Amino acid sequence: MADTYLDLVNHGLTGKLAQRLGLPRPAPLRRHRPGEPLLDGPLLLLGTGDDADALAAVFSTGPDGPGGPGGDRDAPGGGAGPAGDGPGAAAPATAELLPPSAHPGSTEPSSRSDADDAGSATTPVTSAAQGAAEVTGWGLEVHRHPLPGLRYAAVVLVLTTVTHPDGLGGPVLEAAGVLRGLPSGSRLVTVSRAATAEDAPAVAAARQGVDGLLRSLAKELRGGSTGNGIVLADGVPATAPAALGALRFFLSRRSAYVDGQLLAIDSTAGALPDDWERPLTGRVAVVTGAARGIGAAIAETLARDGARVVVVDVPAAGEQLAAVANRVHGTALQLDVTAEDAGARILEHATGRHGRLDIVVHNAGITRDKLLANMSEDKWRAVLAVNLDAQLRINQALLTSGDLTDAPRLVSLASTSGIAGNRGQTNYATSKAGVIGMVRATAPLLVPFGGTANAVAPGFIETDMTARMPALTRQVARRLSSLQQGGLPVDVAETVAFLASPPAGGIVGRVLRVCGQSMVGQ
Ligand code: NAI
Repeated sequence: MADTYLDLVNHGLTGKLAQRLGLPRPAPLRRHRPGEPLLDGPLLLLGTGDDADALAAVFSTGPDGPGGPGGDRDAPGGGAGPAGDGPGAAAPATAELLPPSAHPGSTEPSSRSDADDAGSATTPVTSAAQGAAEVTGWGLEVHRHPLPGLRYAAVVLVLTTVTHPDGLGGPVLEAAGVLRGLPSGSRLVTVSRAATAEDAPAVAAARQGVDGLLRSLAKELRGGSTGNGIVLADGVPATAPAALGALRFFLSRRSAYVDGQLLAIDSTAGALPDDWERPLTGRVAVVTGAARGIGAAIAETLARDGARVVVVDVPAAGEQLAAVANRVHGTALQLDVTAEDAGARILEHATGRHGRLDIVVHNAGITRDKLLANMSEDKWRAVLAVNLDAQLRINQALLTSGDLTDAPRLVSLASTSGIAGNRGQTNYATSKAGVIGMVRATAPLLVPFGGTANAVAPGFIETDMTARMPALTRQVARRLSSLQQGGLPVDVAETVAFLASPPAGGIVGRVLRVCGQSMVGQ
């Protein structure tokens, strides 16, 4: 369903009126289009230490290495940013770019001597950075300190070396100086380490502090810009496949409706794709509930990213399902996921028609909303059966089949209702919270095969499901997020595709919200 308010306040006379009246004007979000550059302008990378240096090397090195196109550049400003019309167009010729010393393979000494730069721009390439040299570079224009007046398309704040709250102020306040100049749709990403009970209190305080920092900062950004963070487990470098995959996802427009989220990176498992545009090439995916809405968008997005896709839905949706299967050049399987033999039939279809099964997206879901005082047994049971029991049973069949051994990916649809609870949704929220518990316990079972299970928790997404909400509730739900609008099915689909991709192997049993930083729940 179209968000008429969003259109009215952003166009023509009504837009001018809304501006004059001071009405909230949610910014139209820019979403990923294949072939577009990762960023429209330079990236500011703040922070010191091995992780920061290694990331700078990956970001700035060209796809063909330091000597290739987009790699070591002769002239400052000659990066992947737009030449004349993007946010970085104002970069003067003296732009303080990543010095040659920080490029992997470079032997040139740095000319900078500022003590503040120790461990950052002037530090010789570390072993971590050298490791990153094996990684295909992204060809971005990277600055290690802000250049006055320059508009950065993205800011990456690396805080992995901070061991006391006192250490946060420096890099955070350096970032503060560029926030006003960020263009619409810019990206801010923190890179930090997980706080644990084993840490010294000051270390844990500093690490946990990043949580509050990021969530607040995301609420301060405007114009469709987003703030997200990756939180590395101890021993996991910032160049681990899952860390790079998550960073790239958060920097890109694929994450347009993901805001205010901190994603844990649990291990170094996972693999970098040969082609970031089509990371699912060679993989076979099954998507349940794919005849319409979010499921159809997931099928289209996985196919766009290179997967062969099997779409599953109830026989009553057979016609719509066939249309989706045709669109994605995949195959359709008419199946009620609550059937006792659903797992076996999914496996049989995928392996019989496509030779293998790598990715299963449990998307089929229903609502039967009622206050618990008015809840009937059939409404309770129907929701639990489709949203949770079916996933458990199918997973059990898949895990015991012996067929899912090549880095499988299970991705389940949860919901912010399962995190925060929602009046009238005791059955639905129970099922969706259950999904979160299920992926947490399922993921470790897949680790021996390089596999993982994770969940995506959408907030308000414009689909048939939310079109059934009362009009006023729908309007309020749309505005209750930092991005002040509902998401689109493709926003959920992009997140599912990321978690289904090879790099995501180090994300083990986690939940990633796609909610525009909804005010509801954490
Ligand atoms: P939808 O109602 O538009 O589509 C759901 C699809 O699942 C339909 O095609 C339906 O036929 C299919 N389905 C239902 N029962 C099935 C069964 N027993 N076997 C096979 N297929 C079955 O729903 P929407 O909005 O696309 O939601 C997709 C998923 O995202 C659901 O799990 C939902 O709970 C979740 N979600 C949606 C949100 C939203 O705002 N739309 C918010 C949070 C979560």
